[in-house]
Amino acid sequence: MLWLGIETSCDETAVALVQASAQEIKILRTDVGSQIAKHRPFGGVVPELAVREHLRDLPRMVPDLLRAAGVDWSQIEGVAVTQGPGLAACLMIGYSYAKALGIALDRPVCGVNHLEGHLISPLLGEDAEPIFPFIGLIVSGGHTLLVRVKGWGDYERLGGTVDDAAGEVFDKVARLLGLPYPGGPEIERLARTGNPQAYDFPQSFPERDNFNFSFSGLKTSVRYFLEKNEPAKANPQFLPDVCASFQEAVVQVLTRKALRAARSTGCRVIAASGGVLGNGALRALLAKRCAEKGIALRLAPNDLCTDNAAMIAAAAAFLVRAGLTASVAKDIDPNLRLGVESKSSQS
Ligand code: KG4
Ligand code: ZN
Repeated sequence: MLWLGIETSCDETAVALVQASAQEIKILRTDVGSQIAKHRPFGGVVPELAVREHLRDLPRMVPDLLRAAGVDWSQIEGVAVTQGPGLAACLMIGYSYAKALGIALDRPVCGVNHLEGHLISPLLGEDAEPIFPFIGLIVSGGHTLLVRVKGWGDYERLGGTVDDAAGEVFDKVARLLGLPYPGGPEIERLARTGNPQAYDFPQSFPERDNFNFSFSGLKTSVRYFLEKNEPAKANPQFLPDVCASFQEAVVQVLTRKALRAARSTGCRVIAASGGVLGNGALRALLAKRCAEKGIALRLAPNDLCTDNAAMIAAAAAFLVRAGLTASVAKDIDPNLRLGVESKSSQS
């Protein structure tokens, strides 16, 4: 089955074609139109601007995608589109386009949870087939989540951030440091020449018994540190050392919590995804700790960490193949959640 994927939940206009058979789910082509340069002068995503970009780009990108892949409209057997979570006006652009296309082509339109897309993206690498149960660690600009995945559509939400998401804290700290948006790649670039042990930023473990995260204390601590150390900013090593030490605090917390989730649930596999997984230090620490503990690790391929439509089409394909047809053309849901709350995360 050939799926067309459409993703417009935030500031990437993304389209993809995914081929699903009983044996494999293969990406034929994935295109991402990044709006970063447009939003950068404002230091973050401006929804009104994102909407205009989606409106202009999406109707052009879909025919371009088909042409480049050598696929005819009649070969598309289903349209998968992000239903939520995300910015309402942005989601609406993709959803309206997908619904209209579904009517024009007389094909089903499948609404996909953006987080489910991230969750399955590690399964689009080399080692494609999932091993249930596994721990899903999703770290993006809007979300930081730990999920126990028992099977397709059977997700237990173990914990998430109680304040800033991991990507959000990278972006906010980058802003404090005078670095451009998005902050994650900038901080990582500077951290490469910095010493992660130079400064001791807090690695918070709020409510140790559950799997929630908190990053706002870390952000505040970097802010006070910068205010107190104003004269040190003239030292060329200062910025790389702050970036490396901050990054160290984030990746340590994410890795420890993911491993603890695996240990306490008895899962032997961790699958990690989301924009922050583009971070080499996080990938390396997860790989090192999982190897030490004998836990299998699946990382989303680098080019599928940030938002893309291949993960949306593939999520629909996996669900449909498992006999769980995703919702057909219901309305968007900007606050869509993933899975059911686990008892421990409610306590
Ligand atoms: O998954 P994503 O594209 O969008 C959301 O669904 O939120 O994630 C974007 C986030 C941004 O906050 C960005 O700063 C962060 O991912 N990010 C990184 C890196 N690349 C992107 N954070 C740390 N290191 C990176 N290399
Ligand atoms: Zn995302």
